[in-house]
Amino acid sequence: MIEFYNVDMTYPNGTTALRGVTLSVAKGEFLFVVGPSGAGKSTLVRLIYRDLVPTSGFVFVNGVNLAKLRPKTVPYLRRHIGVVFQDFKLLPRKTAYENVAFAMRAVGASAREISRRVPATFELVGLAGKEDAYPSELSGGEQQRVALARAIANHPLVLVADEPTGNLDPATSRGILQLLFEINRRGTTVLMATHAKALVDSARRRVVALDRGRIVRDAERGTYEALRA
Ligand SMILES: Nc1ncnc2c1ncn2[C@@H]1O[C@H](COP(=O)(O)OP(=O)(O)OP(=O)(O)O)[C@@H](O)[C@H]1O
Ligand SMILES: [Mg+2]
Repeated sequence: MIEFYNVDMTYPNGTTALRGVTLSVAKGEFLFVVGPSGAGKSTLVRLIYRDLVPTSGFVFVNGVNLAKLRPKTVPYLRRHIGVVFQDFKLLPRKTAYENVAFAMRAVGASAREISRRVPATFELVGLAGKEDAYPSELSGGEQQRVALARAIANHPLVLVADEPTGNLDPATSRGILQLLFEINRRGTTVLMATHAKALVDSARRRVVALDRGRIVRDAERGTYEALRA
């Protein structure tokens, strides 16, 4: 579902964020991407939703070489890839419901699809009843649930989350992770970049570790740090 082939990413200022990254994520997989600050996690995430294109190498999502997408087909891609950030990025002047509906409309969902899917999505993320609240009226965990609702309302093939629990307390973070597991259980491939050691260690899922732009570890049922022999 997500394939990186020998990807290098150098930013315009000359900083190389990824070097020779080759990674294969199967449909329906769940994985964590970990590594120290500056290791390249966010860069890897941005390449998946084509916020960046690699300096060299290839990124494929669902068999499509993202570098070959014409500008007109990028919205099509966005419909199939949900994205969640540490700082939620909700529109402050729209209600929770409108935040989700607006994003669906932006990728061409019909009014009928929207009125059917938004309530079901609020139910799934545990926010039924909060549809009319503005982001400023919601807790951080609730705002992240709205952001998740927005990311999954179109039933994306892939969900990428860049430190989605970075601003949340441990209990709320566990709730968000459970939700990501549930979304994954329903068939969406989920990639989560994180510093949350306790979450990663308790989950025993696939862990890909980056260090200075290179993949230094890729373990099924892994831990945040390499286990020493
Ligand atoms: N827009 C940019 N322009 C230039 N360099 C950048 C840019 N964004 C990131 N970098 C550099 O690329 C490298 C990787 O950054 P990236 O944000 O991917 O790391 P990260 O693993 O997400 O770190 P953190 O855990 O702090 O979020 C760093 O050296 C960073 O300074
Ligand atoms: Mg980052």
